[in-house]
Amino acid sequence: QATRTPLIAGNWKMNLDHLQAIAFVQKLSWSLGDAKHDFSQVEVSVFPPFTDLRSVQTLISADKLELGFGSQDISEHDSGAYTGEVSGAFLSRLDVQYAIVGHSERRQLHGETDAIVGAKSAAAVRHGIVPVICVGETAEDLEEHGPSAVPVAQLREILSHLKASDEIVVAYEPVWAIGSGQAATAEQAEQVAAALRAVIAEVLGDDRAAATRILYGGSVKSDNIARFMREPNVDGALVGGASLAIDEFSRIVQFKK
Ligand code: G3P
Repeated sequence: QATRTPLIAGNWKMNLDHLQAIAFVQKLSWSLGDAKHDFSQVEVSVFPPFTDLRSVQTLISADKLELGFGSQDISEHDSGAYTGEVSGAFLSRLDVQYAIVGHSERRQLHGETDAIVGAKSAAAVRHGIVPVICVGETAEDLEEHGPSAVPVAQLREILSHLKASDEIVVAYEPVWAIGSGQAATAEQAEQVAAALRAVIAEVLGDDRAAATRILYGGSVKSDNIARFMREPNVDGALVGGASLAIDEFSRIVQFKK
């Protein structure tokens, strides 16, 4: 089995302006520094709003912080008449390492389809950015189709836009677990993560499947993270609400299996 460095990712959503982001990243890195966090064992990334990225980049590079960062979205286009869109070309100029694509909030509120999410994933890869591909079922999907059918179908379509050599991260976020305080069980997360890994193997081959980190997201807290991380196919977490409290996020990062 390939060794996959766990990734704990904090999706800030539409919270923290650029000044708050600077203070937050500074304090988070102090907190992890005090705890002697080993970033080579557990990678940590924050996903601030677009307007914070330049400030976060400057701070991380000036202070040589080991913290990574990514954007919460990316345009499928590289340039042109796309008002309000942000190109991967611009993001890579800011050293953005990751871009979340297909978050359920964008699917629900902005009508993003799997075809769009696939095109965004390909755009990220084109610019040397690793897409963090979000998939997940609603409560109705779960009732109608069982646990893995919808996320598996979503991922299969998205992966058809990619090649075996493309580095990706996949995040399984059951929509019913997001911001609800009702996290999936570790067994549920493992069952779907295993099914998603099988789809990666089917579409992009065994090597890509073995190398890809699959995160769980949805009401992750410091008191449930360890359970998820014990599962063989869960390689980290995409954390929303709990990533906005420095102490809590820092406890999540330092989970003990
Ligand atoms: O992308 C992370 C997210 O959707 C999960 O949110 O607040 O349930 O941790 P939350």
